[in-house]
Amino acid sequence: MCGIVGYKGKDEAYSILIDALKKLEYRGYDSAGIAIWQNNKIVVERNKGKVDDLRKIASKNILKGKMGIAHTRWATHGTPSERNAHPHKVGDVVVVHNGIIENYMDIKERLHQIGHEFSSDTDTEVIPHLIISYLEKGNDFVEAIRLTLKELQGSYAVAIMRENERILVAAKKESPLIIGLGDDEFYLASDVPAIINKTNRFIFLEDNDMAVFRDDKILLMNTEGENIERKINTVNWTGAMAEKGGYKHFMLKEIFEQPRAVSETLLGRFKEEKGEVDFEELTLPELKNVKKIWMVACGTSYHACMIGKHMFEANLRIPVETDIASEFRYRNPIISKNDILILVSQSGETADTIAAMKEGKRSGAYTLSICNVLGSTLAREADGVIFTHAGPEIGVASTKAFTTQIAVFFLLMLHMANKLGKMDNDEVRGMISEIKKIPHKIQSILEHTSSLEEIARRYMTSKDFLYIGRGIHYPTVMEGALKLKEISYIHAEAYAAGEMKHGPIALIDEKLPVAVISPRDQTYIKTCGNIEEVLARRGRVILFTDDPQHEMAKRVDNIFTIPETIYELLPILCVVPLQLIAYYIANLLGTDVDQPRNLAKSVTVE
Ligand code: AGP
Repeated sequence: MCGIVGYKGKDEAYSILIDALKKLEYRGYDSAGIAIWQNNKIVVERNKGKVDDLRKIASKNILKGKMGIAHTRWATHGTPSERNAHPHKVGDVVVVHNGIIENYMDIKERLHQIGHEFSSDTDTEVIPHLIISYLEKGNDFVEAIRLTLKELQGSYAVAIMRENERILVAAKKESPLIIGLGDDEFYLASDVPAIINKTNRFIFLEDNDMAVFRDDKILLMNTEGENIERKINTVNWTGAMAEKGGYKHFMLKEIFEQPRAVSETLLGRFKEEKGEVDFEELTLPELKNVKKIWMVACGTSYHACMIGKHMFEANLRIPVETDIASEFRYRNPIISKNDILILVSQSGETADTIAAMKEGKRSGAYTLSICNVLGSTLAREADGVIFTHAGPEIGVASTKAFTTQIAVFFLLMLHMANKLGKMDNDEVRGMISEIKKIPHKIQSILEHTSSLEEIARRYMTSKDFLYIGRGIHYPTVMEGALKLKEISYIHAEAYAAGEMKHGPIALIDEKLPVAVISPRDQTYIKTCGNIEEVLARRGRVILFTDDPQHEMAKRVDNIFTIPETIYELLPILCVVPLQLIAYYIANLLGTDVDQPRNLAKSVTVE
């Protein structure tokens, strides 16, 4: 996922831009570049590789100036290389871009026929060429950009400069871009953590917005040329929150932030004495007309949806259908205008999930997003939004976003159950008292991690893992398996425990660790049977339970006991040891825990 940063102000741009780029590294990238406007000229430095490599080749002495743009590229068109790295300078115009220009080949062909020569394989390079073609027709710089943007199909977040024009222009469509407001200085970034240490005042640009930074003013307009206004938001994240806070990795910090993240997500959303749950930012449709609820997402967020389904169907008695967003958008789903479509996304920028939301809107359904990032596309464009208040999640492997998504699903279920008359206020009050204890119960798990480190040391050389669970524990083991594979690169598979006889039991032998979630709940008896099946074939069982007297406790290889809670909230507690085991194994193996190979934090392209 590419990252864009920009600066125009009273200080030297170089260090500000490089520092901001470093904070975007977690998004995943393969090349980096910077352009500084100095004395009417623009100097560009770029390279394949990391920001630190760029820092080495871009000497501060050359790159002096108070306006500039910079970029980290995650290759979509054209291999990672210097020639394909951004910024792209064509003539006196310089551009950085995040997104995909779907009609770039047509534009490239047309411009080539009138003499434009292209030097890269990227879709991005058509942007400066197109701007120049409009400049040559007599348009001024801003108008040439506006006309260019009107032609582009697909997604873009762009920052653009021109020699001899002390103007910085930014624009966005379907790719994120925010403006940070300093004292007579302006910042641009793909997301908040990049510049949160510079300001906490932000303008979240919307699709087809343009921002023209001229002198010490911003002109906001749209690609129709109409002046517009946007709210200034205050984001109460400190720079430290976006830094590691003394932990070795962001992922470990974010696992340990879960008590606070869940607490903050609950804050202000219930009145325990009244037995009420309310979301001030939410206006749901009339629930008695709702015939079906959809829950759609990708990856970890999809696992949260599967847990939400269990909560909703058991307590609301409304059919819930979950789907992976990349499947949902292509299977022509039958969505009624009385349906509610819930989209879950930590980043709020996942392309497939955004497309699923648009599918829902086309059908007239009420779309509700559950997001962690203020101002993100899903947060702004769904009919309703509920924010998880997990704070910035920097590690590519999602952790606190997942547990806070489950907390939001639980609160939303209570809110809807009460509105539907499925739960009276006393019942809601009882449920509220349970979730109020969860942050403290997570904390108690985090204070007993030594046995988890032991399990990690014992199984770190395993080539395969199997994770099994029943009911609401099946999506939880799917999440546990995803954590392990995405950061340790060890193959891990999750299965509904009841499926063992239908195939996976063939995998069992003394080399295979099998993680089993088996609390003393409605899944207990049957899951004990599954553990027996594994033990009978000499499988290595790692048992996660809330019952130290579990009937298998003395027969399994390892047991980790979690605190008791109600069925619907067990996933929040059961996932924490699974997150930690994945982390400890990856850390022992020395993989890049926060930026695992091939992965990006937010998948904003298909
Ligand atoms: C989870 O650890 C992964 N990073 C990935 O599966 C992620 O959950 C998925 O890409 C969805 O991202 P989102 O929540 O930002 O939409």
